[in-house]
Amino acid sequence: MGRQLDCSTMLNALLPTSNLLREGWAKESISKCDFLNNIMGNVFGKRYDVTQETKELKELHEMVREGFELLGAFNLSDYLPWLSYFYDPYHIKERCAVLVPKVKKFVGRIIEEHQQNGGSTKLSDDADFVDVMLSLEGEEKMEKNDMIAVLWEMIFRGTDTTALLTEWVMAELVLNQNIQGKLQKELDDVVGSRKITDADIVNLPYLQAVVKETLRVHPPGPLLSWARLSTSDVLLSNGMIIPSNTTAMVNMWHITHDPKVWEEPLVFKPERFLESDGGANVDVRGSDLRLAPFGAGRRVCPGKNLGLATVNLWVAKLVQNFKWVADQEHPVDFSEVLKLSCEMKHPLIAQVTPRKLVGSF
Ligand code: HEM
Repeated sequence: MGRQLDCSTMLNALLPTSNLLREGWAKESISKCDFLNNIMGNVFGKRYDVTQETKELKELHEMVREGFELLGAFNLSDYLPWLSYFYDPYHIKERCAVLVPKVKKFVGRIIEEHQQNGGSTKLSDDADFVDVMLSLEGEEKMEKNDMIAVLWEMIFRGTDTTALLTEWVMAELVLNQNIQGKLQKELDDVVGSRKITDADIVNLPYLQAVVKETLRVHPPGPLLSWARLSTSDVLLSNGMIIPSNTTAMVNMWHITHDPKVWEEPLVFKPERFLESDGGANVDVRGSDLRLAPFGAGRRVCPGKNLGLATVNLWVAKLVQNFKWVADQEHPVDFSEVLKLSCEMKHPLIAQVTPRKLVGSF
């Protein structure tokens, strides 16, 4: 329900721009805010009126922006940890020391609000993630500081990735009008003009294939995380050895573009995942290492199902309600820039036209 509401806000924001949306649409303008609100709703059970720039919303935006910058910034001490004791050339430590107490206060206040509302006693159907954490008992019970750290990480990881993936999908659809047309036809045949819900997604195989193909061509986390350390020497099939105690980083981008794994890897072809067309049955949630954009194993992304559900629903609604075409003055540019996630170097600019009488999304 919350996801529906957040998405409606974004679709309504697209309407008055009538035919032309001239600002980088996803990350910087409308939807960054909507995606943040969506994750805030899922994790904290808290939604803001994004049309009103209240003090609290401003504070949240500022903390998230600063957090993204700090996490994505180059920091010499990551490579030479001893340096951090006496030299902080990029003021990373100093900025973190300012941000952390603000985050603790902000998230701590939300946890307290939940406690006051009796969040820890019994989980109701509309429980959010904070309620679930507060309900943990015995050995699983969490300290407040640990809860703050987990909750804040979810806000970070959940906002950027879903916004970027949606932007990459829409960029591919703008450039590949035939694929957009095919997706529109699937949506028209299966859903028609009624409101799309999460329950419809399972009946939309082409939509799922489009999202999967985007995850393959533009994985938002192309290098997975740094969370892997070899505990013993590992002999690879090519004869190389990864010595014990080495931090290993998985280059998922390379695997998803490897011609030995994928036929015509540079071509955007959702049909390769359409089983009814003889396409491959690939589970992107970590069990098939040809395409593991959420990672795999114990450190796999805990938000993978939420991320997929959100992007599938939002793309479905964006395509059901609008036709997306390239803006002549700002052609789609697939150059990438790796910050915390892999972003479009030049955010998508497109022309959008309502497809039917819209008003209720
Ligand atoms: C399309 C959306 C998303 C993509 C592509 C994505 C991708 C990833 C990747 C690649 C990792 C590292 C996994 C590894 O190293 O094996 C990760 C970790 C993580 N993700 Fe996601 N993610 C998405 C959405 C979300 C959402 C919606 C949330 C939370 C609400 C979330 C929370 C996290 C957290 C907390 C971690 C760290 C897990 C750990 O360190 O053990 N992600 N994600």
